Amino acid sequence: MPDYRRRAAREAMSVRLDVNGIMADTLGAAGITREEVDALAPRTSEITHSLRGRRSAGELPFYDLPYQKDALARIKSVAAEVRAESDTLVVLGIGGSSLGTKTVIRALGTDAPRVAVADNVDPWSFATLLDGLDLTRTTFNVISKSGETAETMAQFLIVRDLLLRQLGAVDYARHVVLTTDADAGALRQIVHDEGFRDLVIPAGVGGRFSVLSSVGLLPAAFAGVRIDDLLAGAAWMDTRCQNADLWKNPGYLLGTLLYLADTRHEQNIVVMMPYGDRLHGFAAWFAQLWAESLGKAETLEGVPAHVGQTPVTAAGATDQHSLMQLFADGPADKVICMLRVEDHGRELPVPSAYADLDPLGYLGGTGLGKLLNLEQRATELALTKKGRPVLTLTLPQLNAFTLGQLFYLFEVAVVFAGGLYRINPFDQPGVEDSKQLTYGLLGRKGFEAQRAETDALLARKRDDYIL
Ligand code: PA5
Repeated sequence: MPDYRRRAAREAMSVRLDVNGIMADTLGAAGITREEVDALAPRTSEITHSLRGRRSAGELPFYDLPYQKDALARIKSVAAEVRAESDTLVVLGIGGSSLGTKTVIRALGTDAPRVAVADNVDPWSFATLLDGLDLTRTTFNVISKSGETAETMAQFLIVRDLLLRQLGAVDYARHVVLTTDADAGALRQIVHDEGFRDLVIPAGVGGRFSVLSSVGLLPAAFAGVRIDDLLAGAAWMDTRCQNADLWKNPGYLLGTLLYLADTRHEQNIVVMMPYGDRLHGFAAWFAQLWAESLGKAETLEGVPAHVGQTPVTAAGATDQHSLMQLFADGPADKVICMLRVEDHGRELPVPSAYADLDPLGYLGGTGLGKLLNLEQRATELALTKKGRPVLTLTLPQLNAFTLGQLFYLFEVAVVFAGGLYRINPFDQPGVEDSKQLTYGLLGRKGFEAQRAETDALLARKRDDYIL
């Protein structure tokens, strides 16, 4: 395809960000003014400069995942092998090691081949999942960057034991692919010792930024998702997010507006509300990205900060009949971010009937997709009418190219917002702390201090407060 036609095709599939609903011009007093954004210019250009430098120095490798070549070839070859051997891929992983895959599979996956994601240690659901599998036609993809997360390791031990018992010591290893760090962690050691197939999570790419690495791409490729398109979508968004003009840079503008909403307008909650069931996974992925990246105790300079905007997920149109009451009339502390899909890929016409019954008659001849999109528009306007800020992202279609854009857009936005908050968006000390207390409670060697800490905390509980 000639370049000009490829570019036109990409333009036609561009995700559009509409910020009218958060700007004072449309919203009035609760909105953000152009002057507020422009007043940040010295800081935003400093952040832009610093991020560019860090990216060029290879310090922020998530930015370059859309352009990976060798890793991609390896992912595709493992995916092809596994597809030839199995009908079901079960992902064992949690948090950043599962949410991206859940998003991609919910949006673009199929029933056959099937990808199931086990991201909890609820014995009922995990046992039920295992009971329903034909192990001879199943591969387990164990994903853990650290190679030691308790939930994932416990699942792995259960699965390994099951495979050994049912398939025998010679065949069982073929049913496992381990995705982990190149050098560190217990899973890497197991790969060395037992010769499982493996994929590498690139150094410096944290869980919540890893969906476009082996973490998300192997399950996606197994499911038949066009992973080249996912990456092409991310690369397209990367180009758009390199625009030096903040008003033309969707990632930087999004990060800046949400930062201003939180810090200047007391809108410290952001609601991700997709209009389309296949985007529910994306809302959960976003919630982790926003919460783990921005919820921080101190600034880069070590000053106590306790910042972060609380992400909440909602479903359009379903939650118009539930949470919307609070969004419209409750505390004015939320920005609603709506995701809209122009062409849902399927339409279901509503038949004309009961023409003389007004509450039903007007629906005849419309389609469910059209109805859903009109509901989104009506709710957006209803919120605007009440002075409640709304951001709208429109996907021409939901496909690998547009989903890749969405992932990349929010990754860029959160890193930029992190710069404005002056925090480190790449660490997660709060998550690590709870992991370590879990190790302490479970009696893991080396975590005796955490065990003592949990004992002391438990000793503070009073019996008369437990009814
Ligand atoms: O984003 C993160 O860093 C976390 O959510 C991790 O992905 C999650 O805790 C799982 O960690 P790991 O991949 O090391 O098992």
